[in-house]
Amino acid sequence: MDYLEITGGAKLKGEITISGAKNSALPIIACTILTDQKVRLSNLPNVVDIRTLLKLITMLGGGVNHNNTIADIDNSSINSTKAVYEIVSQMRASILVLGPLLARFGECEVSLPGGCAIGQRPIDLHLKALESMGAKIEIRGGYVKAEAPNGLKGAKIIFDKITVGGTENIVMAAALADGVTTIINAAKEPEVVQLCEMIASAGVEIDGIGTSELTIKGTNGKALEFKETIEIIPDRIEAGTYLCAGAITNSSITLNKVNHKHIRASINKLEEMGCEFELKDNSITIFPPKKLKPINLITMEYPAFPTDMQAQFMAVCMIAEGESIIEERLFENRFMHVSELNRLGADIWLKGSVSAVKGVQKLYGAEVMATDLRASSALVLAGLVADGVTTVRRIYHLDRGYDNLEGKLSSLGASIIRKKEK
Ligand code: UD1
Repeated sequence: MDYLEITGGAKLKGEITISGAKNSALPIIACTILTDQKVRLSNLPNVVDIRTLLKLITMLGGGVNHNNTIADIDNSSINSTKAVYEIVSQMRASILVLGPLLARFGECEVSLPGGCAIGQRPIDLHLKALESMGAKIEIRGGYVKAEAPNGLKGAKIIFDKITVGGTENIVMAAALADGVTTIINAAKEPEVVQLCEMIASAGVEIDGIGTSELTIKGTNGKALEFKETIEIIPDRIEAGTYLCAGAITNSSITLNKVNHKHIRASINKLEEMGCEFELKDNSITIFPPKKLKPINLITMEYPAFPTDMQAQFMAVCMIAEGESIIEERLFENRFMHVSELNRLGADIWLKGSVSAVKGVQKLYGAEVMATDLRASSALVLAGLVADGVTTVRRIYHLDRGYDNLEGKLSSLGASIIRKKEK
């Protein structure tokens, strides 16, 4: 198994390019199931999660030609509608094939994802919404068995909770349904917006894109025709993570290919900490202060502060001058990184969904273990400033979602090496 060895203390400088957003690419790959024509996706991040979902598409019988950032997908040949446990257990987002498979083929079987390191993460809201569109759903042998022999019907769906994946699944299902679907309390994340725009570009009428109320006029079973190459939007979480790398190492670095609007919540918090920014067309440069100020932050749905940036900001707060308070509102168990960060000399107190992070003068390198994707990047950020060597194990979590993390950090001057366990 690979691990990372980081020697802390190096100043960073220079510029890097942000990759395409994993969380946008995943629903978009699933959405190609709604067409029997070829689709080209570009600006894909080179990460394991993308390869996992593309593998699932080939297991369904689809044709995939994937080369680094480009994938040509031909789903005219799909001959199976079963998403097997082997794939879904590796990546929960595979559940995104549920809506499109059911909409196009009238039946499917998708493994239930099961537990997860950051919380229970049920899919009850996805299922309830599909049922109100006329689907018959049973859980058998660990699988969701869904059927809609007479097709899906447009419906009014009110999500009890804002769910990104739930909104995406229902938008895709609604695109081929008979009649109009209204989603109240829809997610507004940029990744949801890109998916809606992709579907709208195929001629499906969607009102309210980017708002919490979406209205989708379905094609009544007619497969979609996506006209152009679909270019994945920049990854706002990757960009936020590198801004944190600049802040924690007190280094001025530039990120290219970013969408400023999508990273506004992270910029605002770093400004509160005393950082300044220069924003140009698609780039951003961070100018951190000598001493970072503490902050209070609460994770919430977009456009508020993203849960996927919580761990990285905790790392930055560990060396701020004073006490920061961080509250996690989206996932019930998303603080697994706290005990690992404390191994590096941080002073973090945790109770329930709230943590208090007292800034310390110095962190000390140690062996730590990654627990989930974003927690892993927080450990790497801490390692960049910790005295001595930090070894981060279980980095398969990192590889799921960060494109060439050690390569990008090394090009900025960090001392970070990937090694193999003997
Ligand atoms: C997506 C992102 C993930 C991010 C999360 C929140 C992808 C591939 N992943 O995950 O990186 O952290 O949004 O921004 O885009 N819930 C239910 N029942 C459901 C569905 C969700 O109770 O049927 C709960 C979840 O347990 C969680 C909350 O709703 O507490 C939000 O989850 P959701 O927005 O669905 O997250 P994902 O789409 O899984």
